[in-house]
Amino acid sequence: MTQKQLENGDSHSIPENDTRNERNVQVMTNQVLPLEVIGLTKKFGDFTAVNHVSFTVQPGEVIGYLGPNGSGKTTTIRMLCGLIIPTEGTARVMGIDVAKYPEKVKTQIGYMSQKFALYDDLTVLENLQFYAGVYDVPQAEEAGRIKEVLQMAGLTGRENLRTGEISGGWRQRLALGCALVHKPPLLFLDEPTSGVDPVARREFWDLIYQLAHEGTTIFITTHYMDEAEHCNQVAFMYRGKLLAHDTPEALKHTYLKGAAWDLDVTPLLEAVEVLGKMEGVAQASLHGDRAHVIIKPEVWTPEKLSAALTEKGLKVNSVETVLSTLEDVFTLLAHGI
Ligand SMILES: Nc1ncnc2c1ncn2[C@@H]1O[C@H](COP(=O)(O)OP(=O)(O)OP(=O)(O)O)[C@@H](O)[C@H]1O
Ligand SMILES: [Mg+2]
Repeated sequence: MTQKQLENGDSHSIPENDTRNERNVQVMTNQVLPLEVIGLTKKFGDFTAVNHVSFTVQPGEVIGYLGPNGSGKTTTIRMLCGLIIPTEGTARVMGIDVAKYPEKVKTQIGYMSQKFALYDDLTVLENLQFYAGVYDVPQAEEAGRIKEVLQMAGLTGRENLRTGEISGGWRQRLALGCALVHKPPLLFLDEPTSGVDPVARREFWDLIYQLAHEGTTIFITTHYMDEAEHCNQVAFMYRGKLLAHDTPEALKHTYLKGAAWDLDVTPLLEAVEVLGKMEGVAQASLHGDRAHVIIKPEVWTPEKLSAALTEKGLKVNSVETVLSTLEDVFTLLAHGI
């Protein structure tokens, strides 16, 4: 196999004597999918952590990979980064088969792990230099790349601070910088915003959008639903299986066959229980001091629902139409299992 065939992934191999090689390689390089995952599975002994997951990701997309704790998100990422070997299935990362060429894949990706693998005893600059070495950034380009990354992450002027002493928000930006030091076309971010304050979270997302705008494809896990709403595509994992994958709007359209209402009703917990059992109520949950329902509008009007609840001895103070959210979709999907 030639180097070019390797770079384009074995599925796109071209015979070496094909005189159109150069042109074809160019065309296919432009079209290569950042991620093509088919039946990807990981078992740890008898336990299946990732169960026949398939999806594709287009260049420049931000894909949110969501799911409860232990649903297989990190395990998927570790397979896609070539860190653990899939038990079954295939994954092409930037066109490269990750099980066959894990080392080649590593040059194409940046990975910000869930625990931000930074060295606390090193300075900000030393961490970046370390990762430039890990990712084989050519010596001649290293200083320039580090300067760019410091600027992008807003860390210019903080180069000589000890990493263990900087705040959570700065650590997060430094970890992102380390994952980007070799300018990869595909970035994996595993819960990058957990434990950072809302302002740092927003600023971090501004950086994500900027990177995506410049053409980087971003695969990100998060437990924050507001962040998921801002992804181009959202995939939802549950107990190792991929239950849904679409745009946030399409997910709501497909799964939420109804309107979302918030009810101010007492006693609240009893009301949620009663609502959950009512015909024409797709789901009922507690949202702060309100009962949140997804209802079938052909069955209920606010007045009818109020009357039905009053009849059951509950006191309804108000029924308010609210926007449905991805959280509604995921509650429905998770309960539908
Ligand atoms: N090396 C391993 N050996 C055995 N089981 C493992 C291993 N790595 C992960 N698991 C199990 O696989 C399941 C999926 O774990 P994973 O870390 O992928 O979940 P996750 O969706 O990233 O969860 P979280 O949101 O908590 O980060 C869990 O039950 C976990 O305990
Ligand atoms: Mg995880």
